[in-house]
Amino acid sequence: MHVALLANLKKNAPTWEGMSPDHWDDLDSEKTIHAISDALESGGHQVTFLEGDVTLYDNLRKVKPDICFNICEGHFGDAREAQVPAILEMLRIPYTGSRVLTLALTLDKPMTKRVLAYHGLPTPPFQTFERITETLDPDMQFPLFVKPSREGTGMGVSAESIVNDEHELRKQMRRLFERYDQPVLVERFIDGREVTVGVVGNLTSPVAWRIPEDEEAPRMQRGLHFFPPLEVDMSRYPEEEKGVYTSRIKVDLAEDFHYLCPAPLSEEKLDELNWLTAATFRITGCQDVARVDFRLDASDNHKPYILEINPLPGLNPGYSDLCVEAQADGWKYEELVNRILDEALDRYGLI
Ligand SMILES: Nc1ncnc2c1ncn2[C@@H]1O[C@H](COP(=O)(O)OP(=O)(O)O)[C@@H](O)[C@H]1O
Ligand SMILES: [Mg+2]
Repeated sequence: MHVALLANLKKNAPTWEGMSPDHWDDLDSEKTIHAISDALESGGHQVTFLEGDVTLYDNLRKVKPDICFNICEGHFGDAREAQVPAILEMLRIPYTGSRVLTLALTLDKPMTKRVLAYHGLPTPPFQTFERITETLDPDMQFPLFVKPSREGTGMGVSAESIVNDEHELRKQMRRLFERYDQPVLVERFIDGREVTVGVVGNLTSPVAWRIPEDEEAPRMQRGLHFFPPLEVDMSRYPEEEKGVYTSRIKVDLAEDFHYLCPAPLSEEKLDELNWLTAATFRITGCQDVARVDFRLDASDNHKPYILEINPLPGLNPGYSDLCVEAQADGWKYEELVNRILDEALDRYGLI
């Protein structure tokens, strides 16, 4: 197969005066692109890298790939991760991973939480703010957690994201409004362990976009391969990170990642996390691959709360959570990458 590898490289991203230094933290490095490209070639494919920017449309028409391996995060807009898949659908070119609606939905954390809540899935209670002057809902009790609505890779997340009173809340909200120019998401702070579950595959039954009825529920996970959960080992990080998986840990300290994988969890807890992962994957309409981030509430018997689902999980071979999990499961990086491709090829009837 001729595979076009579509990504947004950090080094190709636009720059402008006064942009915040972390603006492109969620984009990919050349190292990741080379690793994916090598992996696909080892699977017997021919690979052409294309930057997922305004040149993409014309380049795709020239290159005419059989399928695209898409990991584009996009540059601008409230649904930027959905833009490349939209182009691919216009051109009727097959691609890996989730489609337009899923990528638009899951980039927006509050919208995703509304869908989770509609389906009765546990996510921390929350309120969104469009303006700094809006009043805090009296049901929202401190401590709270403040983050941008539509970023990833810990952008805008630091120890200061935990706020204990109105003054700290407004101060942190102001920072985020100035930096990210988007609604701010305020959630109940969940004090506890930090676990993430990666999956590859596609749910085969019973139906998509909803939680199945009782008699179908046990079969809900069919078609997905669950990797062993990864727990961020907060005990190995400086006290000042306050147990939060901060931008500093994800970016500055990424090469020195401290984790437990498989996370030490009871069989029962593991089943619960896998079921919630499958449910989240299903109701958001994910395909081929995803990673769900959880916090386990220490004050409530480690009750899991879904923080977000990542349908474009990082694929840096050295330290991305999904790659670490696959490795702990005995998978080589090449196997992970080719499995994602094969899932897509299978969906399109190309293998
Ligand atoms: N409600 C919360 N309570 C406690 N910690 C949180 C909460 N929301 C986010 N965090 C912390 O912030 C980190 C990043 O949040 P997340 O929503 O996963 O965004 P990102 O897209 O940056 O990964 C989490 O891994 C967790 O450590
Ligand atoms: Mg996360």
